Amino acid sequence: MSDINPETGIIDNTMTNETKDANRIDLTRRNLLKVTVAGLLAGIAAPVLPHLSSHAAATGTDRKKVLIAYYSRTGNTREIADQIHRSVGGDIFEIQAVKLYPDDYEDLKKVAKEELASEYKPALKTKIENIRSYDLIFIGYPIWWGTFPAPVRTFLSEYDFSGKTVVPFCTHLGSGLGQSVTDISKLCPKSKISDGLAVWGKDAKTAQNEVAEWLRKIDIIK
Ligand SMILES: Cc1cc2nc3c(=O)[nH]c(=O)nc-3n(C[C@H](O)[C@H](O)[C@H](O)COP(=O)(O)O)c2cc1C
Repeated sequence: MSDINPETGIIDNTMTNETKDANRIDLTRRNLLKVTVAGLLAGIAAPVLPHLSSHAAATGTDRKKVLIAYYSRTGNTREIADQIHRSVGGDIFEIQAVKLYPDDYEDLKKVAKEELASEYKPALKTKIENIRSYDLIFIGYPIWWGTFPAPVRTFLSEYDFSGKTVVPFCTHLGSGLGQSVTDISKLCPKSKISDGLAVWGKDAKTAQNEVAEWLRKIDIIK
């Protein structure tokens, strides 16, 4: 079952209650205090470190706080986001626009094309309260007209990713990453952009091995 924090839009569907608490520690002062006090009482040295898989810890990302942010209209990109989350841990966040897109595919293509041409930035439904606390930010999206959809443009423009590592991934129907990585670099000029992953939409459900291989290649898991 997905569990959406109504304050932040963070979705956490794989963690125990205990690790959920650990992952959400930076989101509110109240929670930070709670976790810190609990950690001190328990005599734990690093109660505010995020949950990461042992693989990630072994490659030195254990001190990095991970965010997996994605936009997905029909679920393919969400599949990949979930697979990354299962391998790496961290917080997962669905980018959602306030205004819904048309259901009709032809209408949608038209709207998406206009939004691309005008570099439109639609208002988003959910916010991340403490983006500064994240070091490693995965950003996932379907390819629309050769790049990411407009809500991702808003997301990349709304927050400051300077000094952070941004890791792109997408699903597509033949374009691969297209122009999207270049477009991310333009919006995040002071970030390190990792090699991205492009998965065919139809293969998204069974891409776990491909995802793991890519995560190893870019040195995020061992
Ligand atoms: C408006 C629109 C434009 C698209 N443009 C492209 C494209 O330029 N290249 C491509 O390979 N796929 C394109 N696609 C296909 C999607 O990238 C693909 O179906 C993707 O897996 C959908 O991901 P989602 O289920 O996470 O929304 C487009 C889809 C839509 C709806």
